[in-house]
Amino acid sequence: MDAIVIPEHYCSREILDKEIKNVFHKVWSFVCLKSELANDNDFVTKNIGNTSIVVQNIRGEIKAFLNVCSHRHSRIQCEQKGNRPLLCPYHGWSYNKDGIPTGIPKKPYFDFQKEDLEKLKLKEVKIDFCGELVFINPNDDSESLTEYLDDFYEELEKISNNIGKEVDINEMKINANWKILVENTLESYHVALIHTDTFLRLGTSGIDFSFAGKNSVWTTQLAKGENEGKNAIIHKPFQDRDYKIDGYKHFIIFPNLLISSTYGISFNISLIEPIDESSSRFISRVFVTKTHTNTENSPLVDAYYKSLVQFNRDVFSEDKEICEHVQLGVQSSPYSGQLSKEEKRVWHFQNSIINLLNDK
Ligand code: FES
Ligand SMILES: [Fe+2]
Repeated sequence: MDAIVIPEHYCSREILDKEIKNVFHKVWSFVCLKSELANDNDFVTKNIGNTSIVVQNIRGEIKAFLNVCSHRHSRIQCEQKGNRPLLCPYHGWSYNKDGIPTGIPKKPYFDFQKEDLEKLKLKEVKIDFCGELVFINPNDDSESLTEYLDDFYEELEKISNNIGKEVDINEMKINANWKILVENTLESYHVALIHTDTFLRLGTSGIDFSFAGKNSVWTTQLAKGENEGKNAIIHKPFQDRDYKIDGYKHFIIFPNLLISSTYGISFNISLIEPIDESSSRFISRVFVTKTHTNTENSPLVDAYYKSLVQFNRDVFSEDKEICEHVQLGVQSSPYSGQLSKEEKRVWHFQNSIINLLNDK
């Protein structure tokens, strides 16, 4: 079957601008885990195109605002994450939990009335949660997060509530259009040649896909069971947990969030963000499950964590290399591209993109 996204769409600034407007500004975007915003003044910033949004814990409430000061337009939080009040670094305006500037140095010079301050309120952005997952949506008219995640809501909620220790965060710039990277994660057709010493060894197989709204999941058995052979020793410390699956699951939450799990013991959360039409930022985080028993301070567990980190880094550097080759090729491809049944999730992703670009 012909692919839907044509080669030109992977190399055009104009198309990327349209995607930012019609896709990224219209749907729910993953920001972080709730645990990263646990304390008063914890914040995370999120860029959607050139728009920066700050998500901040303000006296126990997690709020999202456009990250632009109402005085003279500085970014209010300038780092990716941190802990500081919602206070502009330029002239020191500070904002309350409703986004109203309540702390203004040399205030009498402004002659502000109370209603003037209300008008200078930061633009609030919609925020919602699926368990521990924090999402924002710049589109005031969008469907709810529950509707957006559709049939996957409950399982994602469960997964997120079982995500425990973070064992790796790997951020890299990849010289490929963001859709090439997303599409690469949506098919296992490439595993045989690209991941010979890594993913291939897990023994994934099949085309057990399901779709919910713009999202999809792939479920597969693995060559070895959770407690088969050596796995029995490696996985022993993680037996007492609440989320168990038979093999491997890989979700895409459209358009750029990937969540996967192996046996429900390890989890990967990856985000793919466009930098420009031919380069992207790939942020991949690895976690292990929460357990009801203490798994720390064991050499066996430490070795397992190390192997997860190595695996994660090896797999994604293999993907980086091939995706950069695709970017070089797509610029002069005479064909639209072909998709097999094994690449059905790519088709579904492309279809969602094109529908949004055409405003359907
Ligand atoms: S620009 Fe923010 S206080 Fe002046
Ligand atoms: Fe891959």
